[in-house]
Amino acid sequence: MEHKEIENYEDIKERRRKADLKRRKKDMKILCIVIFIVLLIVIALIFAFKGDDESVPASASVSEETITTTTASTTQSDDTTDEAEATTEQTAHVTEVIDGRTYIDGILIVNKTYSLPSDYDPGMDEETMAAFEQMQAAASDDGLFLYIRSGYRSYADQEYQYNVHVENKGKEYADEVSARPGYSEHQTGLCMDVNSTEDSFAETEEAKWLAEHCAEYGFIIRFPEGKEDITGYKYESWHIRYVGVEVAKEITESGLCLEEYLGVTSEYAD
Ligand code: DAL
Ligand code: ZN
Repeated sequence: MEHKEIENYEDIKERRRKADLKRRKKDMKILCIVIFIVLLIVIALIFAFKGDDESVPASASVSEETITTTTASTTQSDDTTDEAEATTEQTAHVTEVIDGRTYIDGILIVNKTYSLPSDYDPGMDEETMAAFEQMQAAASDDGLFLYIRSGYRSYADQEYQYNVHVENKGKEYADEVSARPGYSEHQTGLCMDVNSTEDSFAETEEAKWLAEHCAEYGFIIRFPEGKEDITGYKYESWHIRYVGVEVAKEITESGLCLEEYLGVTSEYAD
């Protein structure tokens, strides 16, 4: 009897030991699952942060949008980035209207969109004349003769000239080759027709020299070939406009016409 009780006691101990072992195994299983879940969360968080880093280019494109908006508006650069402000400086233009004359970035613009008052009568600009004389001397050194066929023209002179074109070949043709009175750059005293106003002038050595060198003296070919739809006029290899050496070189090297360079149109209202 006593012996059986001892056996029972040993059984109980063994059962308890097994139960303990089973519980510990279960605890270990739960611990492993918890650790696994925590690891998964940590890995997910790492990827989430990495994803944020990779979104930098996206924020760069937001900044590009800001630049575009800023460039479109010339006045909203206060709260933009340095980069945006730099771009604004490059592309925004300052327009001033003084006594009916329009200056864009300090350049007097006269075309089919921007006219001059009929009484604006400055005569030939002295700086323009001096630049032409320097250019003339340089051409002469190269064995070529450049002269001013037509420089400053008053409102009345232009009216006469335009009307001759209208009478000869009609209004549509006249508008392709001649400015209406008040819309001619010749009334600024800042331009001139050199040597000849025949289309064949483009093939002469003088015209080629002019195209190659006029920017060195501050002039641009004002109505370039291929830009007729933008300037509003047929190609004129002889008509040069003084804008100063720096701007002339920049415009010539860019391949833009003055309208493109200043971001303006050349279209009559009617
Ligand atoms: N021939 C140019 C366009 C003028 O008449 O001013
Ligand atoms: Zn001209």
